[in-house]
Amino acid sequence: MVPQLKKLLEGKAVVVTGAGGGIGRDFALAMAAAGARVVVNDIGTSVKGEGRDASPAQKVVDEIRAAGGTAVHNSDSVAEWESANRIVQCAMDAFGRLDAVINNAGILRDRFFFNMSVDEWRAVIDVHLNGSFHVSRAAAPFFKSQDSGCYVHMTSTSGLVGNLGQANYAAAKLGIVGLSKSIALDMAKYKVRSNCISPFAWSRMIGSIPTETDEQKARVEKLKAMETAKIAPLAVFLASDAARDVSGQIFAVRANEIFIMSQSRPLRSVHRAEGWTAESIGAHAMPALRAHFYPLDRSQDVFSWDPL
Ligand code: NAI
Repeated sequence: MVPQLKKLLEGKAVVVTGAGGGIGRDFALAMAAAGARVVVNDIGTSVKGEGRDASPAQKVVDEIRAAGGTAVHNSDSVAEWESANRIVQCAMDAFGRLDAVINNAGILRDRFFFNMSVDEWRAVIDVHLNGSFHVSRAAAPFFKSQDSGCYVHMTSTSGLVGNLGQANYAAAKLGIVGLSKSIALDMAKYKVRSNCISPFAWSRMIGSIPTETDEQKARVEKLKAMETAKIAPLAVFLASDAARDVSGQIFAVRANEIFIMSQSRPLRSVHRAEGWTAESIGAHAMPALRAHFYPLDRSQDVFSWDPL
């Protein structure tokens, strides 16, 4: 008889937020297939965060159970502290433990900065940045006391590189990078790890690209290669004990490519023993530093080739 290999997440319990559709649904399915018991969290809202529907998350739970896995549905929002605590409590009630939090829930309220309303700013910060803090912080006491745990947060090249019309989203997603690094530093002594994934995936979030001309249609066909399911294997690996020495990192995944992203470090310095004046900065410091300026790149200028 061939001995059964232990599954990568056997015995673990995970929370996946925003798991009713898109990338999060594939995270939940893949984690369950890898042996984890899964809290499928989702409020079932629109891309803009309007309305609620419990059925998408329940459908994912049904799919997992039909495949022989273990999952429960939770429809609390990540955006408020009390309800985020109930998401974590749901894992404790259902499974008696929690090993990984996957902060994936998200909405968009795109608008050029000069037109962006305070409500549009707050709604996006509340779900992405505050939501990631809320769920992570609610899980932290459990992770600390059990001396293990893992976070995977979704960031975006909108923040890491740049994009038009997404000041709220870019700020939230870069804030999440700082949150992840801080958790990794603060909780390393409790063997808790924290990493970010910057996904590229054909989900409803980017699915509204117009397809009228042949050129647009061809472009969209290429973008469809960025399947949501392609992001999941990295999240499963990061949630597993095989990733025990991986923390504080930022990865990107686009179809069959996986990237390690840079983190900010000094590029060059200039020094003047007598100190600087505004004039000498203009005459000496700026010309010396200018060679290292970054252009006003958008994500697509940096990821300029078709998904592979
Ligand atoms: P999606 O819109 O398909 O899924 C997001 C899910 O989050 C939805 O099911 C929604 O109901 C849920 N959600 C929204 N607000 C919530 C709340 N307050 N509490 C709980 N659940 C809530 O989007 P997609 O593309 O699957 O995105 C997943 C994550 O990946 C997001 O964090 C997104 O910002 C990020 N991302 C996606 C990219 C892409 O190319 N699709 C690119 C960069 C980042």
